[in-house]
Amino acid sequence: MSEIATAEAGTRDAGETLTLRRPDDWHVHLRDGAMLRFVADMTARQFARAIVMPNLVPPVTTVAAAEAYRERILAALPEGRAFTPLMTAYLTDEIDPAEVARGFEAGVFTACKLYPANATTNSAFGVTDVRRIHPVLERMQAICMPLLIHGEVTSPEVDVFDREAVFIERILAPLLVDFPELKVVLEHITTSEAVQFVEAAGPKLGATVTAHHLRIDRNALFAGGLRPHAYCLPVAKRRQHKEALRKAATSGNPKFFLGTDTAPHARHDKESACGCAGIFSAPTALESYAQTFMEMDALERLEGFASEFGPRFYGLPLNRGTVTLRREAVKVPELMQWGELSLVPFQAGETLSWRFDESATTLA
Ligand code: DOR
Ligand code: ZN
Repeated sequence: MSEIATAEAGTRDAGETLTLRRPDDWHVHLRDGAMLRFVADMTARQFARAIVMPNLVPPVTTVAAAEAYRERILAALPEGRAFTPLMTAYLTDEIDPAEVARGFEAGVFTACKLYPANATTNSAFGVTDVRRIHPVLERMQAICMPLLIHGEVTSPEVDVFDREAVFIERILAPLLVDFPELKVVLEHITTSEAVQFVEAAGPKLGATVTAHHLRIDRNALFAGGLRPHAYCLPVAKRRQHKEALRKAATSGNPKFFLGTDTAPHARHDKESACGCAGIFSAPTALESYAQTFMEMDALERLEGFASEFGPRFYGLPLNRGTVTLRREAVKVPELMQWGELSLVPFQAGETLSWRFDESATTLA
């Protein structure tokens, strides 16, 4: 249903508009407490559904914890906001396969998230060896429950820029052989190796691509000084990898779909001697993807990537209704402040060429 149109014939300075089926975000960090209340609606105003990461402290490992978190998310949204948080279970070495299956069958868990132990923010309880979770993977495969993977090895001897490619070779490839029917999403891919691996694999493997990995390469981390707001995990790679991601995301291949990995951290936690990993892209997520698709001359493929390929992969219905972007210059705020909390959004201070028109959203 995507439509690139010139609005209102006869209106002299009316710009182009881009109307898409309502999209979903297949990877978000909404946090908890005050941060949740500040950020939740930034995702909910643009996206109909989002896969919510479970890396809270303590992590979301039980059905009860996921239900309670889902309630807190819904309570954080403005009255009447049509948004469905899709909850995930955080896999640990000790996770109970029966609890995971019960949550999936009850419609509480949509998927499980695999963080290799200590790979990233709040992953200390993650999996130390994939063999330890074979029982839960067996169960997930049997009930068609998707596995979402943070695909980086954590061994200190592996260079940080190689951790995704090494993970694919050492962990992911054998895992797909052991579990050929398991639905797997390789999250936030950053390398040409990941693109090629996903393209070559069977239909049970998909990948999310963030807005930021489509726009920054590793030079952004060092542009005129150390840039903590460009730091995330997996870290951005060389330009050639970014180019491979841009091609894959805009290719129309349904294995690649939208997942922002929006990951807010308070400004003081980013601008620190040991800054947190995470890029806060929710405030202008769709605008940022639209910019990339426009630069790649592929705006007509944005709807598939943002609104169709994800639900098809997960086996969920497509959303009804539409969102609209208008071809207008939009300046991303330098800083977003809420009480004591300050957040620096992705592309702070930059001017983007599409504006999300919230008032034009339709629900049916
Ligand atoms: O940059 C990241 N931030 N990568 C992750 O995998 C986790 C996330 C977070 O939770 O902050
Ligand atoms: Zn993430």
